[in-house]
Parts: sequence; structure tokens; C-alpha cells
Amino acid sequence: MTRRKTDLVLFSELTVEKALKRALGRERAELIGEIRDSGLKGRGGAGFPTGTKWNLAGAAQGERKFVVCNADEGEPGTFKDRVLLTEYAEHLFGGMVLAAYCIGAGEGIVYLRGEYEYLMRGLKETLASMRERHLLGKDCAGKKGFEFDIHIHLGAGAYVCGEETALIESLEGHRGEPRNRPPFPVTTGYLGCPTAVNNVETFITALHIVEKGAAWFKKFGTSKSTGTKLFSVSGDCARPGVYEFPMGITVANLLKEVGGEEAKAVQVGGASGRCVARHEFGSTIAFEDVSTGGSIIVFGPTRNMLQVAKNFMEFFAEESCGQCTPCRYGTETLLEGIKLLEQKKCPMKYLRELVSLGETMQIASKCGLGQSAPNAFISILQNFKHEILAHPQGE
Ligand SMILES: Cc1cc2nc3c(=O)[nH]c(=O)nc-3n(C[C@H](O)[C@H](O)[C@H](O)COP(=O)(O)O)c2cc1C
Ligand code: SF4
Repeated sequence: MTRRKTDLVLFSELTVEKALKRALGRERAELIGEIRDSGLKGRGGAGFPTGTKWNLAGAAQGERKFVVCNADEGEPGTFKDRVLLTEYAEHLFGGMVLAAYCIGAGEGIVYLRGEYEYLMRGLKETLASMRERHLLGKDCAGKKGFEFDIHIHLGAGAYVCGEETALIESLEGHRGEPRNRPPFPVTTGYLGCPTAVNNVETFITALHIVEKGAAWFKKFGTSKSTGTKLFSVSGDCARPGVYEFPMGITVANLLKEVGGEEAKAVQVGGASGRCVARHEFGSTIAFEDVSTGGSIIVFGPTRNMLQVAKNFMEFFAEESCGQCTPCRYGTETLLEGIKLLEQKKCPMKYLRELVSLGETMQIASKCGLGQSAPNAFISILQNFKHEILAHPQGE
């Protein structure tokens, strides 16, 4: 997959050793303040402010603290972390050292998507090289008394293990099932200890911010969604690939860049995101408008949108961990409903009940998987009712 647009924040020049040594010469509070001022929000999807997370984990009491990198990258249509893990591993580990210094952690873990096992060798070589250069281990990056190291844990292919509390359960050797929150991982995470879990892109962005300054970062993006973001673009467009764009780019401008002007819809945020139709292409991609962890799937004029909804719902029914009823029952029931629509046998009254079930799932499911599972179905139905209900379905 070609990488395009390589000159803004994440893909700009940075020497990790130099950046780390400079950063670790500063006070923790000052570094966290810089991250807070930058307005950086987590790049894994939920958009929680990174400075606040590190401040909470730093303030939490615990003999051991952990920094965990979420490299599970399971959202359909997302592959930007794979590029970072392949080409910017040292930047990632540098970002984790920075986070560890800020919160006072001694151990770091990368939770690597099972399908990315082939990256393990390169990642381990990078870790070994950093140890040789004293960028990991005792007196890490020249900071006397600061010791930190990282190991890699391979996932086993469950999408729900990307959810941070399920990820922690999996790290501890349990079934990958989300925990009740609160307590949050910043106080009660891995092995019950304070833990900062962040996305691959978040760590790398944070390192750029402390090196180049919050003001520099804020030059990109919008006031509520600062900086740039990586987008994994796939589907019916001429130039798929990984792109770095400023936050706040309109869907229309993004489509122009990737050669997808003919699209009839764009799925922003992967299976758990929202289907944006042509009349909404003026929307911006930002936390305050259409939000995404980075997956952009373009649908051309001939795509069957009911098939798209079915495909996503099959995914959720398969990946639901089954722990809570709204998600376990809801994903299967919505899938059956979509199959009825496909056969033109879904009465309108039942369709309204399906939408109502979807809305209940959004509120009542225990974790983000069940809460977002109905999103694509509901937005596709809203935008493509004419296409889906083109033939009579009965009352
Ligand atoms: C079902 C589900 C899957 C998720 N998968 C990922 C993932 O693959 N990578 C990721 O960084 N965050 C994922 N998240 C979000 C994490 O729970 C968490 O918010 C994130 O790792 C925090 O990092 P950030 O603040 O840097 O974004 C997922 C959430 C849910 C509900
Ligand atoms: S919402 Fe789904 S994935 Fe999340 S805990 Fe409930 S059953 Fe499991």
C-alpha cells in the first residue's frame, strides 16, 4: 500500500535519540503540560486527551506502573499503525519512553495484533539496538535513575481485545473480555497497577510535540481537534494508501486527494464508524464533527449499500464477546433483519423495531463494540432508504 503526503507531523523529520535526551532533561510536569497545551487527543478512536491521561496515571499511587501500546489495529479498513510499526518503530518506542518518564513507569508492553506477527523480528531488532544505545534499560536515555524497558505481547486475533480493558485482561492471560469502568486503567490497569494505554500513533505524535512544541502542533487542524491524523484509505478510489492530513479536512477534499470524487458514500471510522453520503461530503473529519480512528472506506456509485451493512454486521456478530445481552442478542438480530431486507421480507413495523433495538444497543451495551455495532446499519438505512426499500417489503 503506497504511503502518500509525507511532510506534516508524523512523517516529518525527527531524531529519536536527540528528542528523547532533550525531553528527559525537562521536568515531568512541564512535559505533560506541553502535551496538554497541544490539545493532543488519542488517535485510537475515542479521542481522550493524552495529557490528561498521563497526568492521571502519573498522579495515581502504585509501586509498579505500566505503559501499554495498543497495536491491535483490528478496525476493518485500518492499516496506518502497520506502516508506523514497520517504518517508525524507533519513534514508537521513543514515545513510550517519554510516556513512561512522564507517569513514572518502569515497564512497557506493546500489544501487537496477532496478524502482525511477521513484524516481530524487526521490532525486536529495533528494541535491541535501542538497548545497545542506552535508550532503554538503566539510566534510560541518559536520565540517571530512570529505568524502563519494553517487551512485545502477541494478540490472538480478537477484535474486542483492542478495547483497552479487554486488552489488559488478555495481557494478564484471561479471556479478552471488557471490564466494568470505573475503575479506569490509569488507576487500576495491568495487574491492578496504574497503566497508560495509548495508540501507536498517539505515542509517536507526543514525541514530535515535545521536540517541536505545542504551538507548532496547533498550527495544524482545528481548535478542538489539533494536529494531523493518519488515514488508511481503501475502497473505490484511484489512489488508496496511508495519508497524513490536518484534522478538519472535509470529506470532499479528502476524496479529491485520493481520487474518489465519484463516491456515493464514505465509511468514516471503519465498521464501527458512520456512513457519510454525498449530501454530507461538506462535513469535516474531526472529533467535533465526523470522528475516526483513521479508517476511510470509499464506496463507488455501483456499490450495494445493504451488502455493505450486512458485511459489517456479520463482523460484529462474529466478534461480539457475548458478555452482555444488548450486544450478543442485538448483533445477531440486526444481522437477521438485514437478511430479511435482502429477501424483501422485512415489514416496515419490524424495520422500525430494528432501528429502536440499534438505538438501545448504542446506550446499553457494556463496551464500545456493542455501542457502535449498529452505527453503520442505522446511517446506511438513513442515507440509502430509497435504495434499500426500492421494492415492497410488506407492512
Ligand atoms: C472494540 C474496540 C476495539 C478497539 N480497537 C483499538 C485498536 O485496535 N487500537 C487502538 O489504539 N484503540 C482501539 N480501541 C480504543 C481503545 O479502547 C483505547 O481507547 C485506546 O487504545 C486509547 O488510546 P488513545 O487514547 O491513544 O487513543 C478500541 C476500542 C473498542 C471499543
Ligand atoms: S458490548 Fe459486546 S463486546 Fe462489549 S462487552 Fe458487551 S458483548 Fe462483549
